[in-house]
Amino acid sequence: MASNLSVTFTGLRFENPFLLASAPPTESDTNIMRAFDAGWGGVVTKTIGLHPVANVAGPKTKFLRASVDSPRLSMQKQAGTALHSSWNWELISDKPLDWWVPRISRIKQAHPTRILVASIMAGSGSDEELSHWQRLAAACQDEGADALELNLSCPHMDRKDMGSNIGKDTELISIVTQAVKEVATVPVWAKLTPSTTDIVVEARAAFLGGADAVTSSNTFPSLPLIDAETLEFEVNVDGYVSSGGLGGPAILPLSLAKMAQLAQAFPDKAFSGIGGVADFTLALNYFLLGCGTVQVCTAAMLDHAIGPNVITKLTSGMHEAMERHGWASVEAFRGSRRDRVVAHSKIRRPDAGSYRGGYDAEGYAASRAST
Ligand SMILES: Cc1cc2nc3c(=O)[nH]c(=O)nc-3n(C[C@H](O)[C@H](O)[C@H](O)COP(=O)(O)O)c2cc1C
Repeated sequence: MASNLSVTFTGLRFENPFLLASAPPTESDTNIMRAFDAGWGGVVTKTIGLHPVANVAGPKTKFLRASVDSPRLSMQKQAGTALHSSWNWELISDKPLDWWVPRISRIKQAHPTRILVASIMAGSGSDEELSHWQRLAAACQDEGADALELNLSCPHMDRKDMGSNIGKDTELISIVTQAVKEVATVPVWAKLTPSTTDIVVEARAAFLGGADAVTSSNTFPSLPLIDAETLEFEVNVDGYVSSGGLGGPAILPLSLAKMAQLAQAFPDKAFSGIGGVADFTLALNYFLLGCGTVQVCTAAMLDHAIGPNVITKLTSGMHEAMERHGWASVEAFRGSRRDRVVAHSKIRRPDAGSYRGGYDAEGYAASRAST
C-alpha cells in the first residue's frame, strides 16, 4: 500500500507537503495549473502588490555553476559543471492585482483540493500602506486563496519601506502581520528574511502579530562574481550591479541553520522550509528539524519552469523513505532531529571529564597572557 504523504499545516490539508515557492514558476495561472497537474501539493503565487513594478533592463536571474575539476565558479554555461546557486534581482509580480484576481478564482475552481497560497506585499510606515496589505489580503482570499504569505523578505526591493526592510524591523513585522490578521479569514504565513542576526527575534514579532506560520528562507543578499577577463560583474546593467538574492544548493546549509534556531525556539509553531531543495533527501532535512511543509524555487526553475521531475522525485523519494523506515505519516519523523542541534560546548570532547566548556578549573577564562 502506498504511504500517506498528506499533511495538515496551519489547518489546511495538503495532498503532499511540497509547494512551489513564490517566484517565476508561479508567476502565471498557466504555470500554476501545470504545477498542480504535475503533482505539487501547493503553490505560493509570485508576490502580488499594488505599487508599480519595473524590473532592471537586463537579465533578472542567472545560475552560478561550479567546475568539477577546478575551483572555477561561473555563470557561463560549460560542460562538466554542477549547479552552485541561483542569483536574482527580480522584483515582485509585474502583473497588477486586477490581473491576478480572476485567475486565482479560476485556478481554485480547476483544482479545489490543491492549496493555493497568495503571496502579498505592500509598504509600511503609513496607514495607507497598511490598508494596501488589507486590500490585497481581502481580494485574494475572496477569490478562494487558501492562505496568505506575507513577503517580509525580498532582499532587493527598489523601495525602502518594503520586503526585507520590513523583515528586519520587529515593530513593523508585528504591525503588518496584525493588520493582515484583522481582515484575514484564512491562515497567514510570514516569510522572513535570513539576513538578520537572530531570526528568532523576527519570528517572535510575527507570532506576536498573529502569524499562523513562519516561512524561511528567502534568498540571501549577495553579489554576482566579477569575470576575471572582462572585469565586469557576470550580471550587470551598463556595468552596474546591486545586491541581489542567492538561492539553490549553496543556501541549503545556511537555511537549515536558521530553521534549527526557529524550530527550537518555537517547537509548537508551524514552519515552512525553503532553500536548496531538489529531491526528498534534501527536503528531509527540513522535516527532521520540524517543518510541516517544504517549498522549492531554483530546482523547479531549471526543470521545465515548474519542476515536473522535481515533484516526482520528491514524492517518490518520500514514499520510498517512509516504506523503508516504516513511517506512517510525516508526523512519525517531523522534528525528530530538532534537539540534536546543541551548543558547541555540549559536543563530547575526547577527554570529557576534564573539559569545562572552554573555561578553566575556577570556572572563568583567566588570561594566561603575560602582561
Ligand atoms: C528569480 C526569483 C524570484 C523570486 N521572487 C520571489 C517573490 O516574488 N516572492 C518571494 O517571496 N520570494 C521570491 N523568491 C525567493 C524564492 O521563493 C525562495 O525563497 C528562494 O529562491 C530560495 O529557494 P530555492 O533555494 O529553492 O531557490 C524568488 C527567487 C528567485 C530565484
